[in-house]
Amino acid sequence: MDTKLQEIIIFAKNKLAHDKTGHNFDHIERVVKMAQNLAKQQTGNVDLAVILAAAYLHDTIDDKLVANQQVALTQVINLLENLQFTPDQIKNITNTITKMSYSTSLNGKQELSIEGQIVQDADWLDALGAIGIMRAIYYGGAHGEKIYDPKIAPRDNMTKQDYRNLDNETIINHFYEKLFKLTSMLNTKQARQIAAKRQQFMADFVTNFKNEWDALS
Ligand code: ADP
Ligand code: NI
Repeated sequence: MDTKLQEIIIFAKNKLAHDKTGHNFDHIERVVKMAQNLAKQQTGNVDLAVILAAAYLHDTIDDKLVANQQVALTQVINLLENLQFTPDQIKNITNTITKMSYSTSLNGKQELSIEGQIVQDADWLDALGAIGIMRAIYYGGAHGEKIYDPKIAPRDNMTKQDYRNLDNETIINHFYEKLFKLTSMLNTKQARQIAAKRQQFMADFVTNFKNEWDALS
């Protein structure tokens, strides 16, 4: 593997080493692999170095993980400059990682380059299907969420602040507040194809969950 990428991996690993909310490095590795797969299937030209860098770095500036997002972004830029990425590549990578998250897409998706769209699709696919269910439970558990409460309705039209406010959050509601919305928000045809199966699996899971729950009342 090229040494630039090795430096990026070391940087990302250090940043995410202590996270317990589902941003563990295994998430990053899945996003990298998925982004590579999606990139291979694109007909036009894509900058694979930008895709790999953005995939590895996408959570290193996450507001949940770092105290100061601006400081974290400056560290990313310094790293990329040291590794001799071009100014255009650096702009592409920072634009991608600051604008791709669901929480920054709540009032509408932000404009991303094709490389950014691929990394966003790869990240969002990791929130879907069996893996996505597992991550939601892991995150909900780490934040003390109830698994379900039929009296608490899922929220709509959330701001970023609402999205991060977990006072009344349940894991089942997260499916309605985010997971079921992701499939139609994906960018590439290939990602939408993968998502369709995962979406069905999650829908079945929630249906079964509610049936088991309701059978008790
Ligand atoms: P984003 O960075 O796109 O805003 P997050 O970082 O909030 O997404 O999500 C990280 C993981 O935790 C995802 O798998 C997501 O579905 C899950 N997650 C986020 N918020 C909640 C929540 N309130 N309850 C359960 N899981 C959640
Ligand atoms: Ni991510």
